[in-house]
Amino acid sequence: MKKYIDNFIIAEKRVCSSQYFVLVLKHPSKLPQVLPGQFVEVEVKGNKDVYLRRPISVHDVDVENNTLSLLVQIVGKGTTTLSMLKEGDSLSLVYPLGKGFSVEGENPLLVGGGCGLAPLLYAARCYSQKGVRPDVLLGGRTADLIPIKDEFKPFANVFFATEDGSLGEKGLVTQHPVFLSSHDRIVACGPNPMMKAVARYANEKDIACEVSLENSMACGIGACLCCVADTDKGHKCVCKEGPVFDAKDLTKWSQN
Ligand SMILES: Cc1cc2nc3c(=O)[nH]c(=O)nc-3n(C[C@H](O)[C@H](O)[C@H](O)COP(=O)(O)OP(=O)(O)OC[C@H]3O[C@@H](n4cnc5c(N)ncnc54)[C@H](O)[C@@H]3O)c2cc1C
Ligand code: FES
Repeated sequence: MKKYIDNFIIAEKRVCSSQYFVLVLKHPSKLPQVLPGQFVEVEVKGNKDVYLRRPISVHDVDVENNTLSLLVQIVGKGTTTLSMLKEGDSLSLVYPLGKGFSVEGENPLLVGGGCGLAPLLYAARCYSQKGVRPDVLLGGRTADLIPIKDEFKPFANVFFATEDGSLGEKGLVTQHPVFLSSHDRIVACGPNPMMKAVARYANEKDIACEVSLENSMACGIGACLCCVADTDKGHKCVCKEGPVFDAKDLTKWSQN
């Protein structure tokens, strides 16, 4: 897919919690095709300690309004600088990067945690555009750490799992009863321990499963090899050959 480098204008900024915010970015003309699970490399201006762009998943796309949204968790220098942006500011993106979700299956389960929830909203929208209403399971240690909750409701049946029981079922996502329903595909994005557990479960039950990895990145285009993952098919650049991988190619990775 062709890649672009464009300046977007921040049309809206929504603070979700002390750690998370959403930027709705307006493209200057017609937004090119972007697939769910793909990501952008965001330029961080105004902080002399941040040289590299930061990889952030496409959270949502509105083709009618030519907007692309990002859900960002504040974890360090780059994301703190991004959190200071205001509506009307401009932001340079390199996009769309990586391989997205296939949006296949008639009865999918979308599972995510932390900032891994970001790409699942656009994935749920794309399923809904195909006439499929997915189950979505959102997990976190506590309810406060699940940054978006109501946004999925127009497209999906939403379930929650929290380790302290503050929202939904108490426990890990893979212990949630929704896993007992018959899904023909699992789509997952979140912290590595959650992704490993979901991949192991899907492989044991022989359910088609796509897992998005969030390895640290630099160039974002397959040139620096700093994002390599050890898959069953060899070492793969997560930025170019992922971030979405078939769980069947992650059997070794998911056992570690
Ligand atoms: C394909 C991909 C998609 C992503 N999508 C999103 C998203 O939609 N929303 C979002 O908020 N974040 C996302 N991330 C993570 C995001 O890129 C990092 O949190 C960000 O680069 C950190 O930059 P920083 O300068 O704020 O932190 P730094 O100052 O660089 O680091 C601060 C802390 O964050 C940790 N960190 C840095 N990069 C990552 C990473 N990739 N994963 C986990 N921990 C990291 C560092 O180890 C360190 O402990 C994604 C990452 C990848 C690879
Ligand atoms: S980030 Fe440079 S090769 Fe993936």
